[in-house]
Amino acid sequence: MNKFASTVGESAAPRRASENFRASTISGAGEIRSMTMDISKVAFDQIRDYVYRTAGINIGADKSAMVVGRLWRRLEISKCVDYEAYLTFVSSAEGINERHYMLDLLTTNETYFFREPAHFDFLRHKIIQPVSRHKIKVWCGASSTGEEPYSLAMVLQEALGDHGWDLLATDISHTVLAHARAGIYRTERLDCMPEHYLKNFCLRGVNEFSGKMAIAKSLVSNVRFDHHNLLQPLATTEMFDVVFLRNVLIYFDQPTKQKVIEHILQRLRPGGWLIVGHCESIQGFKNEMSLVTPSIYRKLNATSTTSTSTAEASLA
Ligand SMILES: C[S@@+](CC[C@H](N)C(=O)[O-])C[C@H]1O[C@@H](n2cnc3c(N)ncnc32)[C@H](O)[C@@H]1O
Repeated sequence: MNKFASTVGESAAPRRASENFRASTISGAGEIRSMTMDISKVAFDQIRDYVYRTAGINIGADKSAMVVGRLWRRLEISKCVDYEAYLTFVSSAEGINERHYMLDLLTTNETYFFREPAHFDFLRHKIIQPVSRHKIKVWCGASSTGEEPYSLAMVLQEALGDHGWDLLATDISHTVLAHARAGIYRTERLDCMPEHYLKNFCLRGVNEFSGKMAIAKSLVSNVRFDHHNLLQPLATTEMFDVVFLRNVLIYFDQPTKQKVIEHILQRLRPGGWLIVGHCESIQGFKNEMSLVTPSIYRKLNATSTTSTSTAEASLA
């Protein structure tokens, strides 16, 4: 519990500071701070390049204020007088943890329980019911702080019980994974959670945890959280029936999207489902996938490009 508090504090503090950038004061650091407000074009481009090469995320050329807003406090903590010194530090062997912090701060982790609820209805009514004869394997490919995989786990547990499902949740950020594994959230994060899930799968915090809630241990222990960068193939031979890959493709350019989807398809069973965010789409995989409805795709069988019933048969 204490560990959770300090992990979240570490990730949340720089973001909150960046939002209140002008109002914050750090005593004794004024001189460094005035320098950390400016970034040279060379340093900005190096940071953009690093984030693109590492995570595939495109930071726009007009986003230098955003980068400064998110990183300036890390410069102070690392005692670097400017972004050139910070880059030298993060590129060194000693800077390995700082590289993680930097990447965490430059990615967007926005998520909430039962976001885009039509996808959860689709899972419940169109996917789980036809495949319920075997254990359904689900991969949540950009799971952030855990709200999405726990929403999935609630639907799966309700429909299939303890043993009918398996859920892998992965993300590139170690910080959000630590938060997700703890399974503790502020209660104001629960607005979109249906009442009966709240009742069945959540415990309200008391004393020092008042204002928070914990996901039931039985669910937490049934979700596997792992570090994974979508630019790489998943390091397993497992095949999945369903992949949720929502609200991450929007940060990638077309060649990166292409590579990420190829990696997903390697691990998706024929007939399996790929679900992306409502604002996202996939182009260029007509021979491998069919569009079922906007944001929901189905992997075709090698021998068939059209038959849904064949695809269903291969899942059962
Ligand atoms: C906006 S959140 C979306 C969370 C959730 N899927 C949802 O729809 O609510 C995007 C997540 O993608 C993760 N991410 C970004 N680039 C990634 C990459 N290359 N590999 C794996 N995860 C990545 C971020 O760390 C972040 O947690």
